[in-house]
Amino acid sequence: MRALVWNGTHDVAVEKVPDPVLQSDADAIIKITSTAICGSDLHLYNGFMPTMEKGDVLGHEPMGEVIEIGAGVKKLKVGDRVVVPFTISCGTCRFCSMGLFSLCDTSNPNAAMARKVMGHSPAGLLGYSHMLGGFAGGQAEYLRVPFADVGPVKVPDNLTDEQVLFLSDVFPTGYMAAENAQIEPGSTVAVWGCGPVGLFAIKSAWMLGAGRVIAIDGVPERLAMARDFGQAEIIDNTKDSVTERLDEMTAGQGPDSCIDAVGTEAHSTGTVDAVVDRAKQAVMLGTDRPHVLRESILCCRKGGTLSVPGVYIGFLDKIPFGALMNKGLTVKTGQTHVQRYLEPLLAKIAARDIDPSFIITHRAGLEDAPALYKTFRDKEDGCIKVVLKPQQSPNRLAA
Ligand SMILES: NC(=O)c1ccc[n+]([C@@H]2O[C@H](COP(=O)([O-])OP(=O)(O)OC[C@H]3O[C@@H](n4cnc5c(N)ncnc54)[C@H](O)[C@@H]3O)[C@@H](O)[C@H]2O)c1
Ligand SMILES: [Zn+2]
Ligand SMILES: [Zn+2]
Repeated sequence: MRALVWNGTHDVAVEKVPDPVLQSDADAIIKITSTAICGSDLHLYNGFMPTMEKGDVLGHEPMGEVIEIGAGVKKLKVGDRVVVPFTISCGTCRFCSMGLFSLCDTSNPNAAMARKVMGHSPAGLLGYSHMLGGFAGGQAEYLRVPFADVGPVKVPDNLTDEQVLFLSDVFPTGYMAAENAQIEPGSTVAVWGCGPVGLFAIKSAWMLGAGRVIAIDGVPERLAMARDFGQAEIIDNTKDSVTERLDEMTAGQGPDSCIDAVGTEAHSTGTVDAVVDRAKQAVMLGTDRPHVLRESILCCRKGGTLSVPGVYIGFLDKIPFGALMNKGLTVKTGQTHVQRYLEPLLAKIAARDIDPSFIITHRAGLEDAPALYKTFRDKEDGCIKVVLKPQQSPNRLAA
């Protein structure tokens, strides 16, 4: 089959790789009809995530048709149309039983590698490094789905791929970010980053009762989307000081909840800390650029909550933990427990409460993926979300 493979930093290509096969009775094979590129893929593309290997198949936001099932699979049938979560979860361990699916204790075959870095291993993830399982991803024509009775959700025929695809990751991620923000009726919620995760966090903050949502970014079309689709007040961090504006907008108190939907690759906003992060990372002295984490700790109101869906990788530097402690902040974070949100958020889509396809700006076949990684990374051409259709022009590589 054709798949998008990682060959090194800034080096991805569509190549022929072996078709996936069932490896356990609990597996299913899916023919991918739609699959997206995520902000998390950029951490791999930009070379910040350790334990990637040449030839790894990328992608963790897939959906498609079930074409083969293992002997033990009960809920799925061949022919079912499903969205596949990026989190691989067994459904029966202590953590899955608590609904903490991204912390599944059994789905990462390389748990020992993760334990060395994190103390304990989180769940295996599709297409997201060897430390997190070495599973082939879904930017491909076909995908092996482990624990097929626990992950994939069947979707009704009257909803298009584009309406349901983001159940695989960014819609639940934005929703969990808003839940983690502990929003009270009327709360003021500030969201850093107006990419897909930030935009769904904004939408979800309203669903959970926010009284005011303030969105922060520096990319004009993303700020416009936060304003027009998200009904958020906006702060352009290329023009204004975020700390000063948030203080002005909240009468000096700071937002009740702050959501960091940026993560490890924060753009420099000219502040000293952001410039130092970039310099340290360039010479391999720093693993992350946690400017937004610092800024949100300093901006958050006393006793408020900081929700961090943004991905961080290693050992973060110069975090104002003293401010966090003395201001009595609560921090909630994690990879999304996608399985927990599939049914309730699908119900919202089916009830037409939300149409997640509003974020899509680019649609293409798999062969355009390498160019679109760069376009998405550089926020060029108004790019906010790319959807790939791997079954389109499938014979390009056949020759
Ligand atoms: N927790 C999870 O399970 C999970 C799932 C999906 C994505 N993520 C993470 O969420 C983050 C966002 O993902 P995305 O797909 O929306 O990515 P994205 O790259 O499309 O969006 C990131 C946005 O942050 C903005 N930004 C950069 N620096 C900023 C700064 N200093 N202040 C304010 N905004 C700034 C960028 O302009 C961009 O619009 C990434 O770190 C991604 O890895 C986490
Ligand atoms: Zn993702
Ligand atoms: Zn489990």
